[in-house]
Amino acid sequence: MNSQTREVSIVINPRETGFVRLDLTEVFGNGHPVVLEIGSGKGRFLITSAMERPQVNFIGIEKSLHYHRLISERVLKRHLTNVRLINHDAFAVMRDMLPTASVSELHVYFPDPWPRKREQKRRIIRPEALAEMRRVLIDGGSGIYVTDHREYFEAAAPVIAEYFRSEPRIPTADEPPRTNYEAKYRAEGREIYEVRFWK
Ligand SMILES: C[S@@+](CC[C@H](N)C(=O)[O-])C[C@H]1O[C@@H](n2cnc3c(N)ncnc32)[C@H](O)[C@@H]1O
Repeated sequence: MNSQTREVSIVINPRETGFVRLDLTEVFGNGHPVVLEIGSGKGRFLITSAMERPQVNFIGIEKSLHYHRLISERVLKRHLTNVRLINHDAFAVMRDMLPTASVSELHVYFPDPWPRKREQKRRIIRPEALAEMRRVLIDGGSGIYVTDHREYFEAAAPVIAEYFRSEPRIPTADEPPRTNYEAKYRAEGREIYEVRFWK
């Protein structure tokens, strides 16, 4: 099989490859900047962004197999070559698979809020996960965390500020929704909270 006929898989499956550190230039076949999305859901942000920014590479980590398969189908249907998908817990993927200083932007939209006290250790905005986010981001890289859950926002904003220069903000009504959950929650009139951060 030569390079022209070789099928590039858009899925990186750590259950097959092992949890090994990835060489992202090799993975994408180029050295373009990499955007990481954690918890891509149905993939609206990932797919829209990958279509709008063909000179940028996108990695979507999604824990749910159902959503992972849905995004895979949508990416394949659009013949997007700048997207890779990983179906696993984002913390473990960052810790074990992503190289230091390999990601330019990090996006986290409406992560599960785990409202019960004893489950809050599962939140993706927690110290050990933020340490990994800081490690994988390049100097000058940026991130964005968006939620409709006020208590999660109030708990997360100071933790983010310990790891990054950060700015909490409320998106304005004229800003278009980036994801399915944002569209749904905005239509319901829910308040949306956001933290932007920079390394
Ligand atoms: C509330 S949904 C939001 C989906 C999408 N970001 C949106 O805004 O429409 C949260 C998503 O994050 C995924 N998720 C939750 N915890 C995760 C983790 N630790 N690693 C990867 N994905 C995770 C869930 O499976 C779910 O699809």
